[in-house]
Amino acid sequence: MKVGFLQTFPIFGKKQENVEAAVSLIKGMDADLVVLPELFNTGYQFTSWEESLALAEAVPDGETTQSLIKLAKEKRISIVAGLAEREKGTCYNSAVLVSPQGFVGCYRKLHLFYNEKLWFAPGDRPLEVYNIGTVTIGIMICFDWFFPEVARALAVKGADILCHPANLVLPYCPQAMITRCIENRVFAITANRIGTERRTEESLSFIGTSQILGTKGEILYRASPDREESMAIEINPHNARNKHITPVNHLFDDRRITFGV
Ligand code: ACM
Repeated sequence: MKVGFLQTFPIFGKKQENVEAAVSLIKGMDADLVVLPELFNTGYQFTSWEESLALAEAVPDGETTQSLIKLAKEKRISIVAGLAEREKGTCYNSAVLVSPQGFVGCYRKLHLFYNEKLWFAPGDRPLEVYNIGTVTIGIMICFDWFFPEVARALAVKGADILCHPANLVLPYCPQAMITRCIENRVFAITANRIGTERRTEESLSFIGTSQILGTKGEILYRASPDREESMAIEINPHNARNKHITPVNHLFDDRRITFGV
């Protein structure tokens, strides 16, 4: 299976341009699964709840999800993409999964970072995993990495690959995700953005370094901090199913749940 990511530089508010740019990059890729950054269509630094509501879209009926569904069908590819989701009067920082079969699911970010709390409501649904063919994927968004129980819960539910749209500003995540992979024996694809946004007094610079990690924490590919990139590599996702650390140690069976750990 070929899995990859786009590392892009979205222009704030220019949804049509951002989506068209991503669609054209994906069209040029040879991949079965591609992960796009968090909020890839809108940009990141909203200034108010009203602004996020104005730019957010319904899922799956909104234009962005519909464009991705069309592309997924044409290209026979699965895509995980971060976007602002609107449902009634509420806005979520979400990620959709679309496949050649159409819309598969939507994850609403559980752990909002910093001023995101002013622009979005926190996720209100349990974590889920999704099957694409014989592979099971889990979705987490950016700051969710800081809460190791997210990756753990997805792995326990059966995720082979953690798909991780991100807009990282803190420097720790690329290294921390190595540990998330080792401790859960899963692959992880972090798709981050690059560039700087300064829509308020505070400027935010995004660290790039999107990456594809193996089940033992191997860095199979790590992108540059400051260039747009599209990358896909071959993996065997079923390697994530072997949870034996030694012949007598099993990652999940050895947990001491009755003792609270
Ligand atoms: C983040 O969660 N976008 C840092």
